[in-house]
Amino acid sequence: MTAPVLSVRNLQVEFASRRGVLRAIDGVSFDIAKGEVLGVVGESGAGKSVTGLAVIGLIDRPGRIAGGEIHLSGLRIDNLEAEPMRQVRGKRIGMIFQDPLTSLNPLYRIGDQIIETIKTHTTLTDQQARKRAIDLLAEVGIPAPEKRIDGYPHEFSGGMRQRVVIALALCAEPELIIADEPTTALDVSVQAQIIALIKRLGRDHGTAVMLVTHDMGVIAETCDRVAVMYAGRIAEIGPVQEVIKNPLHPYAKGLMGAIPTLAGEDKRLVQIPGAMPRLSAIPPGCAFNPRCSFVFDRCRIERPEPLHQGTQAVACHLYDRATESAA
Ligand SMILES: Nc1ncnc2c1ncn2[C@@H]1O[C@H](COP(=O)(O)OP(=O)(O)OP(=O)(O)O)[C@@H](O)[C@H]1O
Ligand SMILES: [Mg+2]
Repeated sequence: MTAPVLSVRNLQVEFASRRGVLRAIDGVSFDIAKGEVLGVVGESGAGKSVTGLAVIGLIDRPGRIAGGEIHLSGLRIDNLEAEPMRQVRGKRIGMIFQDPLTSLNPLYRIGDQIIETIKTHTTLTDQQARKRAIDLLAEVGIPAPEKRIDGYPHEFSGGMRQRVVIALALCAEPELIIADEPTTALDVSVQAQIIALIKRLGRDHGTAVMLVTHDMGVIAETCDRVAVMYAGRIAEIGPVQEVIKNPLHPYAKGLMGAIPTLAGEDKRLVQIPGAMPRLSAIPPGCAFNPRCSFVFDRCRIERPEPLHQGTQAVACHLYDRATESAA
C-alpha cells in the first residue's frame, strides 16, 4: 500500500471574530490517492473552500489551522513555515480557482508566466522551457500554442484562460491539484471541456485532484469519490456511484434527491427545508438535526462521528443505532 498523496486528519480551522472564535472546519478527515479525483460538495458556507485553502497553506489571519494534521505524500505540511510552504505550494500542489485572472498576471504574456514557473522548478534552459510551455498549452487544448504563447491574458476567452491556468498548474508536475469551482465562471459549453481536461490529469499524470463544485453532474462524471460537507464537517464520503445511488446521510439523501437529471424527470425535486446554520449558531449534537426528518434525541446532544458502512463513511447516529440493535 502506498501512502495517499493527500491525507487530512481531524482538521480544524478557526476564524477569530469580534464575537469570538468561529470554527469553520471541525474535525474533517479524508485521503486522496495518486490519480484519484475527490469531489467535494455541499451548500454555500459548508467549508469546501476553507478546506482547500488549509491544504495549500493559505488560511490567513484572522484564520488559523487550530488542530489536526495534513500530510502530502507522507510529509507533514500543516505546520510548515511560510517559505517552505510556499515552495510546496508552487512545486507539489497546483491550484485552479473559479476566476482564472486570480492566477494570471494581466501585465505578463502567458508564455512568460509559464516559462518562469517551469524554470523555477526545473533546470531547463530558456529555450527548453519555452518548448515545454508550448507542449503544455497544446496539451490543455490551446490552438496554435506556438503563437498564442506570446498573448496576454485579456486576449483569451474565459475558457481558454482557464486552460492556461491548468497549464500553469501543471508546469511543476504537482502531485496534487486543488480545483475550487474551476468551471463556475465559464459558459456551459466550455465547462464540460475543462472538466474533461481535469479528469485527464489524474489519468495521464497520476495527479491527485480535489475538485470543489456545486454541480452534482460534474461530480458524477468526473470524480472517483465524493465528500459531502455540511457545517464544517464531512457528513458522508464514499465512491461516487455509491453516494449518488445510495446516499446514507439524510443531508446527502436530500442533496442527491435535488439533482434533476439523476432523480428522473417525473420525480418532484426534493428540497431540504431550512438553511445551514451560521458558524455562530451551530446547534449541539449533529449540525443537521434541526433540518433532519429522521432526528431523534441523541442527535440533539451527541455529535456523530464518521461510521464505516461498506465503502462509505457516514456521520449519522441512525447507522450507529442500527448496529446497536442488530447486535
Ligand atoms: N476569511 C474568513 N473570515 C471569517 N470567516 C470565514 C472566512 N473565510 C470563510 N469563512 C467562513 O467559513 C465558512 C466556510 O466557508 P467556505 O468559503 O469554505 O464555504 P464554501 O463551502 O466554499 O461555500 P461556497 O459554496 O459559497 O463557496 C463560512 O461560514 C464562511 O463564512
Ligand atoms: Mg467556496
